[in-house]
Amino acid sequence: MADTLALDKIDWHSLDRIKFADEEALLEDLLKQVPLSDDLRQATMRRALELVETARARGRDKGMMESFLEEFGLSNAEGLALMCLAEALLRVPDAETRDELIAEKIRSGDWSAHQGQSESWLVNASTWGLMLTGQVIGVPASLKKGPASFIQGLIRESGEPVIRAAMMQAMRIMGEQFVLGRTVKDAQKRGRRMVKAGDAAHFSFDMLGEGARTADDAARYLKAYQNAIDGVAAEKDKSTAPEQGNGVSVKLSALHPRYEAVNRARIMDEMYPSVLDLCERAAKANINLCLDAEEADRLVLSLQILERLAHEPSLKGWNGLGLAVQAYQKRAGEVIERLKELAVQTGHRFMVRLVKGAYWDSEIKHAHIEGYPNFPVFTTKAGTDFNYLACARQMLEARDAIYPQFATHNAHSVAAIELLAEEVGNAAFEFQRLHGMGEALYGAAGLGRRVRVYAPVGAHKDLLPYLVRRLLENGANTSFVHSFLDPDVPAEHVVADPIVKVEVGP
Ligand code: FAD
Ligand code: 2OP
Repeated sequence: MADTLALDKIDWHSLDRIKFADEEALLEDLLKQVPLSDDLRQATMRRALELVETARARGRDKGMMESFLEEFGLSNAEGLALMCLAEALLRVPDAETRDELIAEKIRSGDWSAHQGQSESWLVNASTWGLMLTGQVIGVPASLKKGPASFIQGLIRESGEPVIRAAMMQAMRIMGEQFVLGRTVKDAQKRGRRMVKAGDAAHFSFDMLGEGARTADDAARYLKAYQNAIDGVAAEKDKSTAPEQGNGVSVKLSALHPRYEAVNRARIMDEMYPSVLDLCERAAKANINLCLDAEEADRLVLSLQILERLAHEPSLKGWNGLGLAVQAYQKRAGEVIERLKELAVQTGHRFMVRLVKGAYWDSEIKHAHIEGYPNFPVFTTKAGTDFNYLACARQMLEARDAIYPQFATHNAHSVAAIELLAEEVGNAAFEFQRLHGMGEALYGAAGLGRRVRVYAPVGAHKDLLPYLVRRLLENGANTSFVHSFLDPDVPAEHVVADPIVKVEVGP
């Protein structure tokens, strides 16, 4: 079977054994390792406070996401309703049917049936159900009736065509805010202007589209990635290192409708050649290519794919291959350890993007549904923040194996990493932010010219899953972005040391 091509010299399955590790014990272990000394923690607080105060004093316009959240946060009916209705409308091709949808489906209360279809849309509609029961994010009691009642009221007052026109307009505006361009060419052009203005150093272009449902979807997404890589390659000076230029981010779930751990043999057989093709194109031009991190159940499979790529003779000597590691996963530190092993075995240096993780709500929900013995992710924000810093140290100390890329919009995390890097004596790293977020923070830190921007590219219709993830993570009260520029929240609260909360315990 083709699966024999999978190498598995690294014991990836040992990661599965610690997938559901006991959270308290894990955090206790991390505390013992003291990833940040007391002095460094104090200095981090001072620097983080300075960043928040500088950004607030500059009074610069809030970023796109910050403003959007203020208007349509998860704790107001409009935000939920807007997202739900927008998604439904996007699936309907003509105006007449759209009006009918508004009138019949939503008004008649079919809405709740739509909400429960886990395969139907976004992170999956059950996330909304989880929120509506108030289990994850507190919502006002009135909203527990559901967004449908809000929409029904709106329809009564304004009529379907008005709602339709408003929704389509809202989608267009959102698209402009969060997507850098419809095509890579457009995005590159706009990107050049941002570099000139000092708001970015480089970009990682993310071709919108994920979770392919059919082979046709996968073929379409593959083509989009190929075009993106070829477009970036055409602008790249091959003699410079991969980290010194633009690159692409790839979601493996876009490349096969059955990208699931149980289908490993099939994935290695049918999907792997597409991934290899993308990497060979990137390697030929010496650009960077990052495998985005998706759901926890897919982690080991993605690492097995990475291992196979790292052993490919055609990719030898290419240092642009990378992946994202999610610090909210209990296994993150162990993943980094195994990446170091793989680097030694294959002679690659990997570009590793450290993120906290974008699928927290759905991981919690999924673990409940599957009856898992525990969660694969931390259940406190402080636990994730702390693990992020522990992983950051690990990565900075592994300079031969890893080029660290720190993706965060949190002033405390940024400040800690600046200081950690200084202490470790490793200046070869970068920060990353999402397009439409983090401008004020990186501007205040004077890091605009050092930051890589993750830039979604494509059609508005493919934007929604991405946008909803942003809303879920940033709409939460615990989110940094949520309170960063809010003058009602004291700056000291915004940059509170997460390690203190971990020390105190649950
Ligand atoms: P913060 O507000 O400090 O952190 C918010 C995060 O904390 C949440 O997203 C969640 O991860 C965690 N969290 C919140 N509540 C809890 C809780 N109760 N228990 C435990 N943890 C909690 N994400 C991916 O999954 N895969 C990717 O490939 C990926 N690529 C990215 C690339 C870039 C350039 C950037 C900037 C982000 C990327 N992300 C990715 C998204 C990233 O995971 C989120 O933007 C990030 O988690 C937000 O963290 P923060 O430090 O900016 O904000
Ligand atoms: C996401 O798509 C940025 O990869 C991250 O949510």
